[in-house]
Amino acid sequence: QNDPTKESYRPQYHFSPKAHWMNDPNGMVYLNGKYHLFFQYNPGGTTWGPMHWGHAISTDLLHWKEQPIALYPDSLGMIFSGSAVVDVNNTAGFGKNTLVAIYTYHNQKIEDAKTGLHQYQGIAYSKDEGKTWKKYEGNPVLPNPGIWDFRDPKVNWNEESKQWVMTLATKQSVTFYGSKNLKSWTRLSEFGNKVGAHGGVWECPDLFSLVHNGVKKWVLLVSINPGGPNGGSATQYFIGNFDGKTFKPENSETRWIDYGADNYAGVTFAGTGVRRIFMGWMNNWQYANQVPTQSWRGANTLPRQLKLVQAGRQLSLISVPVKELNAIVQTPVIFKNLQGKRSYDLSATIKRFNSRYLLELSTSNKTSFSIKLHNKEGDELIAGFDKKTNTIYVDRRKAGKVDFEKSFARKTLAPRISSSKQLSLKVYVDAASLELFADNGLTVQTNIFFPNAPLNQLSIDADKPVTINQLKISGISATNK
Ligand code: FRU
Repeated sequence: QNDPTKESYRPQYHFSPKAHWMNDPNGMVYLNGKYHLFFQYNPGGTTWGPMHWGHAISTDLLHWKEQPIALYPDSLGMIFSGSAVVDVNNTAGFGKNTLVAIYTYHNQKIEDAKTGLHQYQGIAYSKDEGKTWKKYEGNPVLPNPGIWDFRDPKVNWNEESKQWVMTLATKQSVTFYGSKNLKSWTRLSEFGNKVGAHGGVWECPDLFSLVHNGVKKWVLLVSINPGGPNGGSATQYFIGNFDGKTFKPENSETRWIDYGADNYAGVTFAGTGVRRIFMGWMNNWQYANQVPTQSWRGANTLPRQLKLVQAGRQLSLISVPVKELNAIVQTPVIFKNLQGKRSYDLSATIKRFNSRYLLELSTSNKTSFSIKLHNKEGDELIAGFDKKTNTIYVDRRKAGKVDFEKSFARKTLAPRISSSKQLSLKVYVDAASLELFADNGLTVQTNIFFPNAPLNQLSIDADKPVTINQLKISGISATNK
């Protein structure tokens, strides 16, 4: 039996399944003091296969307890991605406060027949907080109208139109559907054929509102694969208005919630009120089936709160690691006013942190610098700021195992969005992942890596003397017990 606390690439404060394959987070919902995470799961192996919904529960978004499988494939097909809602007012007739899952059925036999009718939406309900589920006997609730890619329903209650609104990925657009009872759905509108990135199929959308300066705005997340800014899978977002029927974006440029290679299919929790909490799958379809982990494949990103901020002339979506994280971040080692040197060696500080730490630094935007995580074997992972191009990058080309798939070795680039003269970075490291939040979450990069030995050395380097106003390094406690 594998011991998840000892496997070398096993994240220790991120969720990963004890064994077997995981992809997208599904049906994330907060109910009676517990966060429920369901996820695309193949209990039969460590590669993608017949999809089930796995299940895990947490009270703080960080300590997850894996549960028995929630949804199994049935005669209508495999269980693809979808969402869950708490039906507070018993609109569906399954009972007050019933948990209802809305998901895609993917029918292999129909797919093989190439009619294009193989994906359709079904629902299931649970009266015991997700332990046991009953599929609705009237499934499918939304048959396929003849669209090959017709999946990943994300349902939210819409106050404006007093109905449930489903946001569904339909090829390279999203289509909105409305329902009073979660069982019969009417098409409302379609969005996206003319805006956004179109390098691949659109998947796993999410539509929700956020209030900025007292004004309600709507945010639409859309994952796309391939066609991400650094290759393969990534998630774009739009800010605009939704009147209960139609989504109108405020501007048409393509924007990304995360520029790293490994944050995909992320959506937000239902049931958390005005606080919008996001988690993604920390992987990329280009190599997800090949990453060199042993008994399991797949982990989630850190949970992040999404907010709107004014950045220059427009609103931007920022991702901020949830405040619950503070409870597992240990007392920091603080360095103030490091100056006059081109290189600072922090290896002695991070040695005892077992590749689990948070590095926070703030410096001026006048000097390029790099943060190098390395080891005696010569593996190095470099994250940095390039002043000339005003980019924030992560380079894993020499970070250990890279040739299990041809596109894995790469340097991912992100534009710095903030124009502030002071640049602040927060970098979370956990065994085999690095999540970088620049300027309070305006520019984000999430990347995974597989060193030959732990990266237990750390240095900050620049081509000329660099001043670091403040540098904090804190160990992070494992939650994966
Ligand atoms: C996204 C995705 C979804 C689909 C699921 C299948 O990663 O392709 O569109 O529902 O994975 O596992």
